[in-house]
Amino acid sequence: MEAEFDRADLARAALEARQMAYTPYSHYTVGAALLTAEGEIYQGGNIENASYGATNCAERTAIFKAVSEGRRRFSAIAIAGGMEGQNPVDYAYPCGICRQVMKEFAGEDFRIIVAKSAADYKVYTLEELLPHGFGGSSIR
Ligand code: THU
Repeated sequence: MEAEFDRADLARAALEARQMAYTPYSHYTVGAALLTAEGEIYQGGNIENASYGATNCAERTAIFKAVSEGRRRFSAIAIAGGMEGQNPVDYAYPCGICRQVMKEFAGEDFRIIVAKSAADYKVYTLEELLPHGFGGSSIR
């Protein structure tokens, strides 16, 4: 069954979250909006670092904010990215590390929305973006 939520609203929240990104190096701002099973939205932006590898993606910022506040069940995440001060030109797909972090918490109904705008987005399951992924069930 499809998860019930307003995808356009979540896309809008992801676009808004780009404003919180800290991107002095790439100038590429990503925003993520994570919808919890309880109906709350956690937003996050990418946070870059002079030691590039210490950079945190927008998706993980949002997920870690939520998990650190006790949320563990999520319905969807919307993602939007583009050059600083510009509207997205392309869909911003989550990197491999973020897909793996989603795998830790995503249930069957979890959806990933990549948005260029509130009216132009695509919806995926995690299985589509991370087929044959490694999860906790493999080591329990
Ligand atoms: N970035 C994200 O925030 N999410 C992704 O899934 C891919 C990449 C960020 C990291 C870095 O700050 C910038 O985009 C360029 O790689």
